[in-house]
Amino acid sequence: MTPQELLKEAQNVIENSYSPYSHFPVACAILYKDGQVITGVNVENVSFGATNCAERTALFTGITKGYKKEDVQMIAIAGKTSYFLPPCSICRQVLVELCPIDTPVYLSNQDGQLKETSILELVPMAFTEM
Ligand code: THU
Repeated sequence: MTPQELLKEAQNVIENSYSPYSHFPVACAILYKDGQVITGVNVENVSFGATNCAERTALFTGITKGYKKEDVQMIAIAGKTSYFLPPCSICRQVLVELCPIDTPVYLSNQDGQLKETSILELVPMAFTEM
């Protein structure tokens, strides 16, 4: 599967985003090494703090289904922004925890253009060990 195809998987669910407060829909698709794709959208809450970002929705679903850190192959994030939408800092720390540090992450913009980065690039000097 190409990064563009993985982005399409995210774009296919972005309308399911529950974002009545921000009106800022986001979707994430994770490709696992067995070929499976797991998607997630942002799910907001009136308390704001209980909001879950698209990336964490997808990552936590993957864990729920039994996938491990080393099973992750690549990640694509879809939004409706003019710029390449990056993950928030909370999601970056969760990405560090649940994916290999060199996992490719494909950011995108409203035109469906891709920008490749990695978790290492998004989180230099990551806190990883206790
Ligand atoms: N959001 C995500 O889902 N992922 C990101 O990486 C950035 C922010 C969501 C959270 C909230 O529902 C909305 O976008 C506005 O911040």
